[in-house]
Amino acid sequence: MSEDARLFPNWQPTWAEYTAVCRHLGLSPQPSLYARLLAHLAGQALARPLSPWARHLCTGQRGRLWLCCMDLYTRLFLPTHPVRYWLNAVLALHECTAQGHAELSRVPRGRALWLTLPLWGLRTLGQAILAMPWLAWRALGYALRLRWRAPLQRLTGRCVLVTGAARGLGRDLMLAALEHGARVVAVVRARDHLPAPLDTLPARAPVTWVEADLALPGALPRALAAAGIEARTIDYALLAAGVKVQATVLNVEAVRQTFQVDLFANVEFAGWYHAQGGQGRLALVSSMGRWHGMPGTGGYNAAKAALSIWGESVEMELTSRRVLIVEPGLFASGMVGSRGLQGWLSVPRRQVAERILQAVVRGRRSLRPPLWFAWLTWGLCLGGRALRARVLTAARGG
Ligand SMILES: NC(=O)c1ccc[n+]([C@@H]2O[C@H](COP(=O)([O-])OP(=O)(O)OC[C@H]3O[C@@H](n4cnc5c(N)ncnc54)[C@H](OP(=O)(O)O)[C@@H]3O)[C@@H](O)[C@H]2O)c1
Repeated sequence: MSEDARLFPNWQPTWAEYTAVCRHLGLSPQPSLYARLLAHLAGQALARPLSPWARHLCTGQRGRLWLCCMDLYTRLFLPTHPVRYWLNAVLALHECTAQGHAELSRVPRGRALWLTLPLWGLRTLGQAILAMPWLAWRALGYALRLRWRAPLQRLTGRCVLVTGAARGLGRDLMLAALEHGARVVAVVRARDHLPAPLDTLPARAPVTWVEADLALPGALPRALAAAGIEARTIDYALLAAGVKVQATVLNVEAVRQTFQVDLFANVEFAGWYHAQGGQGRLALVSSMGRWHGMPGTGGYNAAKAALSIWGESVEMELTSRRVLIVEPGLFASGMVGSRGLQGWLSVPRRQVAERILQAVVRGRRSLRPPLWFAWLTWGLCLGGRALRARVLTAARGG
């Protein structure tokens, strides 16, 4: 199973991590049990938002040393950490199979027992000796980063609306919000055609699906009203749906469709939200492409430029409304490939989703990509139109 098949990476182990857990417990990995393990842990992820400390312990290399230290630490101090659930669930699932039961009930007898007992003791002692300095090191890293940690726990119990929730950035925003305990109103084009693995989202996930084809004028407010969604119940609206049509700038239909999805659908939503008394925050997903033209997708860049300027104007006109304008930089998705220069310039999409959630919860007004990417774009903008055309054509492999 690939990395992307997991809905909740902090809760669900990769296949490699699962096999490490099996080795740790003296069990043989089984693909069918791994699938059941993922489904079980997805349910736990929804039920138990992680504390910042527990989340911090999930970051970085999750190798054998990590597992070994976490086994001891979670047994003693953090019984609700995902690793504890991994270990317990793997034991429970394997015990229900003939092979797993045989492996678990294998015990040394006779002389082998006297040899095994001190080995077990030594193993636990070794684990403790390893775990203490490792934990101190992680605690130091946590303390140093604590200052910048966003209060994402504030999302617990809140309602987050996400457009474009079927895939790409919208999907990751929805999953991150769910993982932090939020309820989600997920706007998708067609509920019946959700790409895998979203169709494996637990049935009790607090998600209200709303179908709307944003290319049709007025579709989003109509669909929200038909679904009985009340603007006042939405705390954060993350408008991530977007379309990038490959067409000449003279193709009126392509430019019009792009503007409808990337700009007007957002204007329509904001109008409905404001008129219905919604008090929450808006996040508009624009693009660094709004700073320059682009051969082949000029309509997209123009629509994003309009979106950024419009978003700024919303806040100027409706002074009580806080609007976050996101220019996220490159990340792999249906819109942008993960190979060549694009892949090299990309940042992990889940990381982008987390940053957007943090920014909107904090009430920030703008969110840009890592500084080096922003300076690269602005530097290119200073370089003149001919240079831009050459570099950007090469970048899209055209
Ligand atoms: N990828 C990047 O590097 C990058 C950089 C800067 C900004 N962005 C922005 O980030 C946002 C997310 O893009 P992404 O990269 O995640 O792209 P993506 O994988 O192509 O996802 C686009 C999403 O928008 C939805 N959408 C498109 N047209 C729609 C319509 N007519 N009605 C309803 N939903 C529609 C899609 O739904 P369907 O599955 O139904 O098509 C999909 O969920 C976009 O606003 C994009 O402009 C992306």
